[in-house]
Amino acid sequence: EKGGYDHFMLKEIYEQPRSIYDSMRGRIYPLDGKVQLGGLVEYSEKLRNANRIIIVACGTSWHAGLVGEYLIEEFARLPVEVEYASEFRYRNPIINENDIVIAISQSGETADTMAAIQLAKEKGATLLGICNVVGSSIPRLTHGGAYTHAGPEIGVASTKAFTAQVTVLTLMALYIAQIKGTISQSKLISLLTELETIPSLVEETLKTNDQIIQIASELQDSRNCIFLGRGTGFPVALEGALKLKEISYIHAEGYPAAEMKHGPIALIDEEMPVIVIATKNSSYEKVISNIQEVKARKGKVVAIVTEGDVDVKDMADYSIEIPHADEAFLPLLATIPLQLISYHIAVMRGCNVDQPRNLAKSVTVE
Ligand code: M6R
Repeated sequence: EKGGYDHFMLKEIYEQPRSIYDSMRGRIYPLDGKVQLGGLVEYSEKLRNANRIIIVACGTSWHAGLVGEYLIEEFARLPVEVEYASEFRYRNPIINENDIVIAISQSGETADTMAAIQLAKEKGATLLGICNVVGSSIPRLTHGGAYTHAGPEIGVASTKAFTAQVTVLTLMALYIAQIKGTISQSKLISLLTELETIPSLVEETLKTNDQIIQIASELQDSRNCIFLGRGTGFPVALEGALKLKEISYIHAEGYPAAEMKHGPIALIDEEMPVIVIATKNSSYEKVISNIQEVKARKGKVVAIVTEGDVDVKDMADYSIEIPHADEAFLPLLATIPLQLISYHIAVMRGCNVDQPRNLAKSVTVE
């Protein structure tokens, strides 16, 4: 049932070219520059007139929400707030009929996320779900939404569900942009044309596996690890850190790279691996200076770079090349090597990768 893989997690990592494809299948029309999301059509008027979007989720799904915030604000010019469901539900939040609340959940059963949307429903908000398990509780509670169609995810550490959530959020951002008229037709055509190639770029990215095994063997005895990124690279860093903590039990933290000098830089010494998303996009130059700050304190830098990069490669101790893609699609590619790093480190440390201690696949109690 693991399809020849040692663990479900590895199988699910390798399924991503397919699962990402499945989450956009039948929903994008690159030639016409059109996005179609059946479960949102009924709410297109609401979306056009919404004041803001509030995303509620937990764990990895919350990280996907942060990516969604960047994309929706960028393309649809609609303010987005991303909330931990557990905090939102107990805060007497300010919500009304003009708000759209999006719940993101792989299982569709997470107790805090369910309670958060129940509360939003009572206050008259329109509820949309982004869930993976068909027929689960959250899709039944929400007015509309879109399934991620990633297929069953067995490993406790979420991998393909995350990239599917990000894919659906990308589609939602473009869909809202389309109905609000905040994106040009030509931009939509070029983004959708590129989005269609992402599954094959993910396939390419998976080829970094052998190199990652080498890097993992160098990092496996670390006691701590820092993940840095800017823009959508920041939620990717948070997700990388969560993955490492939950399956290898190495203490890890994700930070926006520029926040380093506001505290965490004090932790850097030769024992501290720092994994940096340093791909060629709008924050490239800034990330380079963040890497210099780490190197000056003898930190060990592992950089995720764009194919053909030379500048970061010179500075970093190890670099992992991923294909070039539009900034909007960066999370779908940059996440892959981080999943693999965590996986291999956990295996090398003899951890139970698919069922880490103290964790359950679905958290149905608060
Ligand atoms: O099923 P959900 O997406 O609602 O689950 C939320 C979190 O419990 C989940 O993402 C958790 O953080 C994963 N173990 C992360 O790998």
